[in-house]
Amino acid sequence: MSTNLTEPNLIEPINFSSKYLKTFWLKNAKDYYIENRTIVVNLGEQKAYIGALPEKYLLPRASTILKEVSLKSGDSLLLIEIYGPTNIGGIILDAGWHQLGEIIDFPKDIPLWKSPQYDLGIVEFDPYFATGLTEQPAQNNFTKYQVKVNLWFSPAVTNAAIHNKHAVREFLEVHTQIYGTGRMQKFHAKDFNTLYEDVLMSPGDTHIPFACVDEQGRFFYPWHQYYADTDCIWMANEFHPIS
Ligand SMILES: [Fe+2]
Repeated sequence: MSTNLTEPNLIEPINFSSKYLKTFWLKNAKDYYIENRTIVVNLGEQKAYIGALPEKYLLPRASTILKEVSLKSGDSLLLIEIYGPTNIGGIILDAGWHQLGEIIDFPKDIPLWKSPQYDLGIVEFDPYFATGLTEQPAQNNFTKYQVKVNLWFSPAVTNAAIHNKHAVREFLEVHTQIYGTGRMQKFHAKDFNTLYEDVLMSPGDTHIPFACVDEQGRFFYPWHQYYADTDCIWMANEFHPIS
């Protein structure tokens, strides 16, 4: 990480929501006790060890739900605790949320809302290893990435739009389910009838990357979309290459 990590348990609140979620960015975790049921996402470079025996860990770009246990270590973790679900759809009324079609060129009739986006440090990894194209990370492939996160909301039974591009300079994205149940889906073409993979997402799940990497180290994607079975809140974890 680029941040100064000499001090343990540096905590920064992340304001995705003022009423429905409590979110913290935890850096340099050291025996950090998690009391209430919390979704923990490892956005760092290192395994985050969980303080229970037999000792296990959370891999980078993976997530879990923890309660009444300590995080022994971890360079960069996002902690999301959900308060009661009453009125949770009202999260889109919180400051900084917008229907996507209102802020970018995106169909205005698709009920998809985006929260404010936050920069959560810089990490370094081998994109070929991170996307499962190689078995071991190779030092000469290590690249630096700016981590960015935001939440999404869609009501039940929403096709959130098939796409295969995100930006001129593509980034690595994975998603973490926060509330409700949905799916990450892959398609042969930009056509809902060509679905070939359905990855179910429950709270606390992060799917493995859909991206591949070309010979220049650039990410590319199959046609894919998020589908909401129920009212859903999910988080985009984005890793933007830094020149
Ligand atoms: Fe995508």
